[in-house]
Amino acid sequence: MTDSADGTPRRGTCRACGGTTAQFLDLGRQPLSDRFLTEDQLADEFFFHLAVGVCAGCTMVQLMEEVPREEMFHQDYPYHSSGSSVMQKHFADTARHLLEHEATGPDPFVVEIGCNDGVMLRTVHEAGVRHLGFEPSGGVADVARGHGVRVVTEFFEESTARRVRETDGPADVIFAANTICHIPYLDSILRGVDALLAPDGVFVFEDPYLGDILDKTSFDQIYDEHFFFFSARSVQALAARFGFALVDVERLPVHGGEVRYTIARAGARQPAERVAALIGEEDARGVADRSRLDRFAADVEGIRTDLLALLNSLKAEGKRVVAYGATAKSATVTNFCGIGPDLVSWVCDTTPAKQGRLTPGTHIPVRTPDAFTPDAVDYALLFAWNHADEIMAKEQEFRRAGGQWILYVPRVHVTS
Ligand code: SAH
Ligand code: TYD
Ligand code: ZN
Repeated sequence: MTDSADGTPRRGTCRACGGTTAQFLDLGRQPLSDRFLTEDQLADEFFFHLAVGVCAGCTMVQLMEEVPREEMFHQDYPYHSSGSSVMQKHFADTARHLLEHEATGPDPFVVEIGCNDGVMLRTVHEAGVRHLGFEPSGGVADVARGHGVRVVTEFFEESTARRVRETDGPADVIFAANTICHIPYLDSILRGVDALLAPDGVFVFEDPYLGDILDKTSFDQIYDEHFFFFSARSVQALAARFGFALVDVERLPVHGGEVRYTIARAGARQPAERVAALIGEEDARGVADRSRLDRFAADVEGIRTDLLALLNSLKAEGKRVVAYGATAKSATVTNFCGIGPDLVSWVCDTTPAKQGRLTPGTHIPVRTPDAFTPDAVDYALLFAWNHADEIMAKEQEFRRAGGQWILYVPRVHVTS
């Protein structure tokens, strides 16, 4: 159901430029993707309408409805960035890269928006470099502090950025990973960056890339916390509206395909050639064209049909099917497809705050990874497909004993 009753696409207001958005995908009623429930919380679950649109003006792809930020990011926010060893290495490398190439002055200052458990900033701290993390989710902020990282338990926005400019001076680098795409109030963020960034400083952020999401039909990247789906063109337009320029882009393999955007004050740096190259590629592929986005929506329907057919036939054969990785992404898949404990008995996950609870909306029990043994499982639906290499390397015994993995990205298939 993409359109209103009269057949015209539903419209909204673009949170990046104020233009008009048109809806192209409806994923229905959805819960908070990171709210893992105890039995007594089942009665008062929070639901919202998950649908995606594209702006006719600036091409930004975005959710049609916003969830209040305090519902998502709070003391008990369960996502710990350090839960993957590949991501730990990625962020240690990122920190070293920033220290070597950007934070090079006499007393550099590095700010991170959404530092979570300190996965990136702990390397900056260990290098003895002045830093500050903004992390509104108190539980993970405390973990970062335990690693010696300096953190304020606050949302980054214009007012908090201005205060830090007053107390700490200008930032040479403002970094964010998997956080800017979470923030509908981009105008306040960009004004905050303007207030805090040194004249020759850079704002570097990395987020899931629209081009990869379309290529892989990874519609599970769409959930309450992921409000924007960036492309080089939409980020360039956003930067320009606030007196900045997109000066570099780098494609990253993590989380199913991301882009790291580097933004500087307009005129401060010569944009790298690869900025124009990536925008040219996006235009040629038509990543923001209605026809491409409609095809994506049709591909999503195809995945739902195929995945349900597979799970139902495995159930009919009496196979034991479980899932691996209680990801936020999987809330979209399970709720959109209608996959509950009747089709997937339980899901295992290493995160203590998720274990012993039930998945949002579909109420599949979350267990510890030691439940995942070849004796107990025939098929494993890989919700954490973005960590496939890491997980499959860890669970080789499952495959050796005849267990099989089910993936739904880029299409539904079973590993043989
Ligand atoms: N950077 C980490 C964490 C990503 S999860 C990583 O890449 O793994 C997103 C984080 O952003 C959460 O920890 C959430 O609490 C935080 N966040 C959300 N809105 C924010 C804001 N306005 N300012 C700072 N952090 C924010
Ligand atoms: P992730 O895909 O990083 O993010 P999101 O929740 O935003 O979709 O989440 C990975 C989840 O999988 C996280 O809950 C930790 C879990 N996990 C395991 O259980 N085992 C593993 O080996 C890895 C790498 C992750
Ligand atoms: Zn717009």
